Amino acid sequence: MKTSRIPGLYRLSPEERLDAIALMTGLKAEITELAGAALSLGEADRMVENVVGLFQVPLGVATGFLIDGRDVVVPMATEEPSVIAAASNGARMARSGGGFTTSSTGPVMRAQIQVTGLSDPFGAKMAILERAEELKAMANEKDPMLVKYGGGALGIEVHIFDSRVGPMVVAHLIVDCRDAMGANAVNTMAEALAPRIEEITGGKVFLRIISNLADLRLARARAVFPSEEIGGLDVAKAIVAAAALAEVDPYRAATHNKGIMNGITAAVMATGNDTRAVEAGAHAYACRDGQYRSLTHYEIGSNGDLVGTIELPVAVGLVGGATRVHPVAKAVVKVLGVSTADDLSRIIAAVGLSQNFAALRALATEGIQRGHMSLHARNLAVQAGARGDMIDAIAKKMIAEGRISQERAEELQREAS
Ligand code: MEV
Repeated sequence: MKTSRIPGLYRLSPEERLDAIALMTGLKAEITELAGAALSLGEADRMVENVVGLFQVPLGVATGFLIDGRDVVVPMATEEPSVIAAASNGARMARSGGGFTTSSTGPVMRAQIQVTGLSDPFGAKMAILERAEELKAMANEKDPMLVKYGGGALGIEVHIFDSRVGPMVVAHLIVDCRDAMGANAVNTMAEALAPRIEEITGGKVFLRIISNLADLRLARARAVFPSEEIGGLDVAKAIVAAAALAEVDPYRAATHNKGIMNGITAAVMATGNDTRAVEAGAHAYACRDGQYRSLTHYEIGSNGDLVGTIELPVAVGLVGGATRVHPVAKAVVKVLGVSTADDLSRIIAAVGLSQNFAALRALATEGIQRGHMSLHARNLAVQAGARGDMIDAIAKKMIAEGRISQERAEELQREAS
């Protein structure tokens, strides 16, 4: 890719945008595919039950992302205004500090097998662990393809609870899911192990299901936002103060993390992945020490620049599920240029950090409403047919008049042409 930074994209029509992205990024084939992609009613009918239609959501692209030295254009599916603009803004500011750098723990998930009716939970735990190799081999027999691709069962953990219905032993099957999100693979394995675990423990197994607290599938991103680029050291300090509140106050942390998920869910949705799985993982991870906290941190580095970091579970896949079926999702994966689920998870973490940084910067300075309203006004002007300088002129006039509506944008556009 030449560059993912495409200034003035918002001034163009959707068709012109696609051309500009194809030209600037060098992704002509991928962008052409994205432009032509759409889910058909027949395809939808094969995805879920009782289909009667399609529910459409806008798909935009966030620009300016430099992630581990690679330019990335990030398609985002969202109904919320300002999200894509904010993600792009954050990416532009991170870019001037060298972009995002990422890491991950790898695509490892847990399945839980709940054993009840035991009088000797500690003995049962040891009995399961004694047979860990046998259980792993049984699990791997269920998915030889996963093993062939370098994944499969890695180990067994056993947790003990004293619940209100008596002691419980919960065996965790730890599985490297490679490029699958993994729910199908680990659920199948867990169901296969259940009868043997009953034999081993003498207990009764009820639940056999994936855990969405994917704390072994963490994605991380870091960015340095140069202070002069973000409005000065005072802005950097205000962002640190805003983030500090989200570290200690669950009321603020919920909103802070909601902002992160604005970006993450939009990127996950565009790739056809399970947004609820990623959301459940993110919020459960945010609460892992018993108090709900922010998923990002901000500090001032020794040279006065702002350092932002994020760490969260990102359980996404590239094989199986809607990602391989939905024509738009398939095109989105090509635009992202990712070849592994792990690569995708790290891009998603970077989007979350960018989104959060942009929100905090707006909140720490002028607030979000002014930017939000001017973006809304510009979008209305574009929809009314305005092009070039007329977009900002019409938007400014509507803001000054306090009349920001499609009708007024069309009137002003008619007067101007
Ligand atoms: C709005 O969708 C998201 C924000 O509330 C996030 C935040 O407050 O950090 C702006």
